[in-house]
This record gives sequence, C-alpha cells and structure tokens, in this order.
Amino acid sequence: MEYNNGVNISAGNRILRTFLSLMCCLLSAAGDEMVTLQEVEGTTITLHTGITGIQTDAHIVWFNGPEKAEKKILNSQMFKGETVTEISERFKERLQLDRTSGALTIRNISRNHSGVYLLQVITEDLSSRTFRVSVYAPVSTPVINLRGNRSLFSTESCSLLCSVENGEDVKLSWYRENERISITNNTDLSVPLNLPLQIQHHEKNTYICVSANPVSNKTTSLSITQLCVHNSGQSEGSRSQVPVLISAGVFVLLIISVSVVIWLKKKKQQVPEKAEGLTYADITVTAHSTERVQEEKNSRKAQDETEEEPVLYSEVRRSK
Ligand SMILES: *[C@@H]1O[C@H](CO)[C@@H](O)[C@H](O)[C@H]1NC(C)=O
Ligand SMILES: *[C@@H]1O[C@H](CO)[C@@H](O)[C@H](O)[C@H]1NC(C)=O
Ligand SMILES: *[C@@H]1O[C@H](CO)[C@@H](O)[C@H](O)[C@H]1NC(C)=O
Ligand SMILES: *[C@@H]1O[C@H](CO)[C@@H](O)[C@H](O)[C@H]1NC(C)=O
Ligand SMILES: *[C@@H]1O[C@H](CO)[C@@H](O)[C@H](O)[C@H]1NC(C)=O
Repeated sequence: MEYNNGVNISAGNRILRTFLSLMCCLLSAAGDEMVTLQEVEGTTITLHTGITGIQTDAHIVWFNGPEKAEKKILNSQMFKGETVTEISERFKERLQLDRTSGALTIRNISRNHSGVYLLQVITEDLSSRTFRVSVYAPVSTPVINLRGNRSLFSTESCSLLCSVENGEDVKLSWYRENERISITNNTDLSVPLNLPLQIQHHEKNTYICVSANPVSNKTTSLSITQLCVHNSGQSEGSRSQVPVLISAGVFVLLIISVSVVIWLKKKKQQVPEKAEGLTYADITVTAHSTERVQEEKNSRKAQDETEEEPVLYSEVRRSK
C-alpha cells in the first residue's frame, strides 16, 4: 500500500512538473524577459543563463524554434546514476551543455539557427530562461556607380548610385562629412538596395556610402575626381574643349616636325664639305642615340623627332 502511494506521489509530481513547464512556455511565449542576441554566422555563441549551482540530478531541457521554442533540441538527465544527454539531429555536433549553469554553447552557428531558445531546469521547482538569437552574414561592400545613361550627364552635377546586395536588416546610407544624409532599406531581400546621390562637380566634401546590418558594416568612399570629373570630360559641355586641345597639340607637333626637316636638309648640305667621313658619322650616331633614350621618356613630340633620326644616319653614311 505504502509503495503504491509513493508511485502515486511521484506520478503527481510528474504531472505538476509538466504543468509548470507548460505554464513556463506560455509565459515565455508571451515575451517575458527575453534576452536578445545578434551574432555573425560561423561563430561560436554561448547562451548564459545567470543560474549557478544546478543540482547534479536536475533535468535540463533546451527548446528551439523560429518563432516559438517548441522543439526539444537538448535533453539532459540522470539515468541510473549517469548523466544522459541527447541532442536533436539538427544540432548534432554543435551543442555543448554546462550542467552547473545550464548554459548552452552553439558552435559554428548558421542563419538557420536564428530563433527563440528556451531553457528549463527541472528540480523540485522549475527555472527557465528565454533567448532570441538572430544570426547574420557579414554585410556586402557597397558599390558606387554613375547613374543612368550618358544623356543624364550634365556639366553642373553628377548623378551617382550606391548599391549593395540586400539581406536581413540591411540598411544603406550616404554620409557627407560624417553626417548621414540619406538611408534606405527594403524587406524584399531579392532586389539589391540602391541609394542615389546628386553632387556638384569639383565639390570638396567627402562622401561615403555605408552598408550595415546589426553585426557588421562596410564602407565605400566616393572618389569624385575618378567618377565625376573624369566622366564630365566626355559630357556635352566640355566635350567641345577636347578637340581644341588636340588640334593645338597637333599644330605644335607639326611646327616642330617642319623645323626638324628644314634643319636636317641644311645639315645634309653641309656634310659633303667636311672630309672626316667615318669618324664624324660615328660621333653623330652615338650622340643621337643617347638623346633618343632621353627623349623617348618624354613625350609623343620626342617620338616624332626620333623617327626622323634613322634618316639622318643613312643620309650621313650615303654622303661618305
Ligand atoms: C560551419 O557550418 C557550415 C554550414 O552551416 C559548414 O558548411 C561549415 O563547414 C562549418 N564549419 C566548420 C568549421 O565546422
Ligand atoms: C539552412 O537550411 C536549409 C533548408 O532547411 C538548407 O538547405 C541550408 O543548407 C541550410 N543552410 C545552412 C547554412 O546550414
Ligand atoms: C537615357 O535617359 C533618358 C532620361 O531618363 C531617357 O529619356 C532616354 O531614353 C535614355 N536613353 C537611353 C539610350 O537609354
Ligand atoms: C526600413 O523600412 C521600413 C519599411 O519599408 C520603414 O518603416 C523603416 O523606417 C525603414 N528603416 C529605416 C532605418 O530606414
Ligand atoms: C561600423 O563598424 C565599426 C566597428 O566595426 C564601428 O566602430 C562603426 O561605428 C560602424 N559605423 C557605422 C556607420 O555604423
């Protein structure tokens, strides 16, 4: 009789514990003191409980789910004087339990492991802790490009677009001199985030485009001289100045070439009057070769001159 009573009492205890667990689940589902953690994928995290000195015979259970902690992922209890810990297939090899605090360590956490985690420590009474874990990949680096097509270029301003791959909680911003001037986000993760910027050419301000999520941020600086000033060189207003510069250059080259040709002709006429022959020719060639090395470093103008040199050389030889 007494033995039977004992069984009844322990069965009653079990019912009470189950009832307490359910109460706990309902309370935690109601969002009562939930610890929020934001983590980078691939790292190892520990859910610290703040509990100390859990009895060795305590029954410890961790639950997890995307919105509600409804699936048992770890179950640890004493069985015939030994601790038996079972881990669900989904978390195999990743979980480690500290039985004195109930803390759960999750190795190499992935975005799939985002969600709610619930701990229950069942002894004479029941303690529980709830965590919301959000796992993010590091955000991508934003890219700055000229916006639109060529007809959008103007001499006064430059239209730019900063873009980044979208993701969970990603925001894209433009900063001018450390002050945020615009920001965008989008819950549709399938389209990249884009944020336009219109600036004046030759502006001295520094602009940066920043992509950020709760665990990381990446920055790209705008190089106005590379993107805007360079391209404005091809825009309608200044495009007309380019041919002027080119024709001026061609004109200068032409004058130089004509002068050189006249000078060569004069020189050619003088050569027969000198009797030194071979020695003289060698000196001439050597002198011009060194000149050529120096001149080739300089400009196209120099190249044009050196092209004339072989003529000088052959004509000198012929004249011997
Ligand atoms: C981490 O987990 C990912 C899948 O989530 C896997 O591809 C990778 O190999 C794991 N890395 C380590 C070091 O276990
Ligand atoms: C996340 O889960 C999906 C399906 O549940 C799976 O295809 C994917 O490989 C998982 N990703 C990681 C990083 O574990
Ligand atoms: C360039 O943009 C303007 C204004 O947005 C548009 O009217 C024009 O059709 C575009 N041209 C091309 C070739 O895409
Ligand atoms: C993000 O987008 C949502 C909806 O589109 C908007 O309500 C929210 O203010 C945005 N947040 C920021 C920081 O722009
Ligand atoms: C970007 O992250 C760094 C730390 O990595 C932080 O110091 C900085 O304030 C963040 N910048 C922005 C704009 O969030």
